[in-house]
Amino acid sequence: MSVILEFQNVSKHYRVGGQDVPALRDVDLKVNTGEVFGIVGRSGAGKSTLIRLVNALERPDGGKVLVDGADVTAMSGTALRSLRQKIGMIFQHFNLLSSRTVTQNIAFPLRIAGQTDNAGIRRRVAALIDRVGLNEHAHKYPAQLSGGQKQRVGIARALATGPRILLCDEATSALDPQTTQSVLRLLNEINRELELTIVLITHEMQVIRTLCDRVAVLDAGAIVETGKVADVFLHPVHPVSRRFVSESGDLDEAHLRAAFDHVAGRLVRLTFRGDAVYEPMLGKVAREYGVDFCIVSGHIDRIGNTPCGQMVMGLTGTRVDDALAQIRREGVTVEALR
Ligand SMILES: Nc1ncnc2c1ncn2[C@@H]1O[C@H](COP(=O)(O)OP(=O)(O)OP(=O)(O)O)[C@@H](O)[C@H]1O
Ligand SMILES: [Mg+2]
Repeated sequence: MSVILEFQNVSKHYRVGGQDVPALRDVDLKVNTGEVFGIVGRSGAGKSTLIRLVNALERPDGGKVLVDGADVTAMSGTALRSLRQKIGMIFQHFNLLSSRTVTQNIAFPLRIAGQTDNAGIRRRVAALIDRVGLNEHAHKYPAQLSGGQKQRVGIARALATGPRILLCDEATSALDPQTTQSVLRLLNEINRELELTIVLITHEMQVIRTLCDRVAVLDAGAIVETGKVADVFLHPVHPVSRRFVSESGDLDEAHLRAAFDHVAGRLVRLTFRGDAVYEPMLGKVAREYGVDFCIVSGHIDRIGNTPCGQMVMGLTGTRVDDALAQIRREGVTVEALR
């Protein structure tokens, strides 16, 4: 696996009214070629700053940002222009040119890049419009489009120069849930078809869960946790990650605390991944070891393409330890809560 983007010990401050506002502290991060990498954090965590360092819209105070091994923090002139052609970007509010049609918006970066072959541009733009599903809207102006359609224009425009990395800054935050899903599906298809690396920042864990391979959690300018999306969703370690997962409905800490008072016996959390989700294992183990169980909370869902389930339960009986050992042998993660 090759690394396409790397942050090495990056820090960034803004000076506001004579005061230093830290935006990023000692950020280390590697993004692999072809992956969808998510960065999640609250408002003000430094997400936009981080992403804007990649195409050198911002410069760090310390550390390096490497794209394909080249240090972008030192780039200017021609090197910077060719870097920016390798990197597409889409935005929360789409940033389309309101006085130009869909076709003209998508052609814009090609003209900026100095292309003059009109027939070539027309062909390229037509292919992009087709790819993002806007064939009936090619001659409309942005004001005549829905939010989802505008973001499709944004995506086509970002892809025009054939970038290797696509940066998405809250690209679905202005869209309703259904439109969000359709834009995420498009991004997923593009990621696979073009082997395009996607770096996406968001405050919504559901976006991370649907699209990303790995995720970093950014808090007050520092990365507090990085991991595969399923690992972070099922076993968040840092309190900030736990809060994000909890807010997305996957781990209700308050409900768990209540269960401590009301449920008898041993309290455990079981995590099932992959085919284990579909096995009728719990009933079998309960019968074999003579244990009773009470389910406190549970859900089965998908993270990316993997079915995952998590369940909190109270167990009573004389052979609870043996039952839990058997559950572990079946490939289920068992965490003792009490
Ligand atoms: N141009 C700027 N001048 C001064 N301070 C800035 C500037 N841009 C960002 N900041 C500050 O840097 C910090 C990080 O801001 P940033 O925009 O990266 O956060 P964010 O995670 O993208 O937030 P949001 O989710 O609200 O978009 C904040 O404290 C912000 O006020
Ligand atoms: Mg932002």
